[in-house]
Amino acid sequence: MAFATLTRLRHCIATTALLALGAGCGDFTSIDNPDPTDLDPTDLAQMRLGHALFFDPGLSGAGDVSCASCHDPSLMGVDGLPRSVGTGGAVVGRNAPSVFNAGLKDVQFWDGRADSLEAQVSGPLFAPDEMGQSEEGLLEHVRVTWAAQFELAFPGEDGPTLEQVSVALAAYERMLPRRSRFDRFLDGDREALSRRERRGYRIFRRNCSDCHDGPALGHGLRKLGEKVPWPSERRSDLGRYEVTGEPDDTMVFAVPSLRNVAQTGPWFHDGSVETLEEAVRLMARHQVDRRFTGPQTRAIVAFLGSLTAQDVQPWAYEDWDGSVEGAAP
Ligand code: HEC
Ligand code: HEC
Repeated sequence: MAFATLTRLRHCIATTALLALGAGCGDFTSIDNPDPTDLDPTDLAQMRLGHALFFDPGLSGAGDVSCASCHDPSLMGVDGLPRSVGTGGAVVGRNAPSVFNAGLKDVQFWDGRADSLEAQVSGPLFAPDEMGQSEEGLLEHVRVTWAAQFELAFPGEDGPTLEQVSVALAAYERMLPRRSRFDRFLDGDREALSRRERRGYRIFRRNCSDCHDGPALGHGLRKLGEKVPWPSERRSDLGRYEVTGEPDDTMVFAVPSLRNVAQTGPWFHDGSVETLEEAVRLMARHQVDRRFTGPQTRAIVAFLGSLTAQDVQPWAYEDWDGSVEGAAP
């Protein structure tokens, strides 16, 4: 703890000296678009299988819900609802985070109860209100439907297994992060952001980067209401406490990635906030104990808009035929 604080402080002092040059306290890292031509044929086969499974409603017990139902790629990997709707129309307990940048995060789910994409998969599959599946039902379905694809993706292994389903879905999800204008800016193209966005970035870096930096602009677990208690009407879900039962974990949530955040409302784990301005105001008030002026808030919102992915990846969409220019057939 003391060591981490000291390191952080040193990092901040070193970078504050560079403030005039546009560097700051946060540790922001640009990302490259994942490139399937880098994959060997087996990894590419896993990605192709993951794509097929992601869009297959047959993975759910009743055959009515796929991963894409709640993580729709044409809606930036979310469903646009305050809380998702699962099998048979059941309303689930939380808002669906985007799958597009989950691969950049160190913990999964709003309460961080899974530490990898692979470990995350059985959550929705077997939750009665999400996909309502059983392991036997799942394996029977994929054996009948995707046997040949499993053989290509896991040559020489017995299968299909639940682990292979998880590996394939995670391999697919890791290919989904996409560069934004902010990445171009970080790589040195100052004009990639407008003046207002650059102003928003400066305010954001000073106030928000303790929790929202790194490649995903969000990492680790933090208390919601660190500086000023989160409003009581928004405290029905106690976050990590619901998993561990530890009083210290009350209202501790995973810090979400802010990539594509302008497109992934409504916001927060309960989907209770309908505008990004309001989300920024709540964060400023309760996480950093600050009240921004209207122009400051709008500058931050403009900056957040620069995090929206720009390039299109054919494999993000259901109609991808599996072909990748320059890669294994
Ligand atoms: C019924 C809607 C629904 C379905 C179907 C669904 N999800 Fe989710 N997903 C959610 C919700 C809601 C959460 C957040 C749950 C929580 O934090 O407790 C979530 C969380 C996630 C996360 C964590 C992301 C993060 O940033 O923490 C990943 C990754 C993910 N889902 C992938 C998948 C995959 C892969 C499938 C298919 C096997 C799937 N989901 C099916 C609604 C759904
Ligand atoms: C002390 C850590 C911390 C700080 C500082 C912080 N945040 Fe957050 N942020 C979080 C956590 C935790 C969440 C998840 C909230 C939840 O569970 O609903 C979050 C969520 C958000 C969301 C909603 C994302 C979504 O997908 O629903 C936005 C937008 C956001 N923060 C912006 C900001 C801005 C802008 C600042 C600076 C003014 C800031 N945050 C400062 C921890 C922090």
